[in-house]
Amino acid sequence: MLQLQKGIGDDMAGSVITVAQQKGGSGKTTVSANLAMGFRAAGKTVALVDIDPQGSLGRWFMTRLEAGMDCEGMDFATSSAWGITYECRKLAESHDIVIVDTPPKADSDLRPALRVADLVIVPVSMSHVDIWATEGVLDLARRENKLALVVMNRARAGTRLNADVAQAAQELEAQLAVAQLGNRVIFAEALGQGKGANEGPKGPAREEVAALTAEVDSLL
Ligand SMILES: Nc1ncnc2c1ncn2[C@@H]1O[C@H](COP(=O)(O)OP(=O)(O)OP(=O)(O)O)[C@@H](O)[C@H]1O
Ligand SMILES: [Mg+2]
Repeated sequence: MLQLQKGIGDDMAGSVITVAQQKGGSGKTTVSANLAMGFRAAGKTVALVDIDPQGSLGRWFMTRLEAGMDCEGMDFATSSAWGITYECRKLAESHDIVIVDTPPKADSDLRPALRVADLVIVPVSMSHVDIWATEGVLDLARRENKLALVVMNRARAGTRLNADVAQAAQELEAQLAVAQLGNRVIFAEALGQGKGANEGPKGPAREEVAALTAEVDSLL
């Protein structure tokens, strides 16, 4: 009973990160998987929870498992939107980081996943449509008093669109991550292979994952 009452914010418990964005295909699953491997590379244990019925993060994890890749210090669970509080509390007792991947929605079903989070990450792919879709999640996070970090995904440095999206994020009064994930084939390939982009050949994607992980860690 005592165990059950232990709060997420307790020092002994791990941190919960919820990745949410109404717009489909913005990079929620990509960010979830790469943050997981970023934190593993930094020596932290990581549990992943998929509440998206599409189950992409689960497919990623199963691909990893079946390929015999290193899954030490990792765990995976699925959960209903409403079972998430219990699942996260349980996993946070035995893992440093719990990452929750969510479906492309910003409705009341999302609230428990936001409520249980220490930090909400909102990936925004490089389009105005993505930034328009961001308001819903930011509103919900604000109502739950949660810090939301907007992360630019599929970024193309130096483009007009990149600057527009950055400005729009600022106008939404959202905290914008300094770290970005570029639009790189390796992110798509790695996801299909059950890998993080930081497990591939040396290159900018590795540095991007490490930088994002460090920035997220500093906010926990
Ligand atoms: N930085 C990136 N560079 C290249 N491709 C990317 C990048 N981020 C995501 N993708 C690709 O874009 C597609 C959508 O990404 P992802 O599945 O992570 O989005 P999602 O927000 O989880 O989608 P959904 O809303 O359907 O759950 C995938 O094919 C993925 O490989
Ligand atoms: Mg997804």
